[in-house]
Amino acid sequence: MKELEIIIKPEKLETVKSILDEFHCGGMTISSVMGCGTQRGNIDEETNVIKGMKTNINLLPKIRVEVVVDEEKVENLIARISEKVATGNAGDGKIFIRSIEEVVRIRTGERGKKAL
Ligand SMILES: Nc1ncnc2c1ncn2[C@@H]1O[C@H](COP(=O)(O)OP(=O)(O)OP(=O)(O)O)[C@@H](O)[C@H]1O
Ligand SMILES: [Mg+2]
Repeated sequence: MKELEIIIKPEKLETVKSILDEFHCGGMTISSVMGCGTQRGNIDEETNVIKGMKTNINLLPKIRVEVVVDEEKVENLIARISEKVATGNAGDGKIFIRSIEEVVRIRTGERGKKAL
């Protein structure tokens, strides 16, 4: 099992939710976060114009989507998200991928893939 931590612009949340549904992901966790990438947030994300000095860190609102999936789905999921979310402009986001050792469905005690 792998966890994808998908950081996106807020306006892409509905797109990502639909993709996770399409892939029959068992669940998801969504948080509203602040963040910056290599431009340190000093970019107009509409026009892609750098606004200031890179030394000033400016945190922008982002959405974090956490989803744990069967490893077999990972590459197709990444491809689909990238296809639908990429605009070509800075700030489109990132996907961090981690291995997940175990999962337990509390109601039934099921473990592993069947508990997703
Ligand atoms: N190295 C990182 N560690 C933790 N969070 C990160 C990292 N890079 C990006 N993020 C998170 O992802 C969000 C989007 O990053 P962003 O898409 O701007 O990445 P980037 O590396 O600057 O790429 P781009 O040049 O396409 O903008 C950030 O606002 C931050 O929340
Ligand atoms: Mg960036």
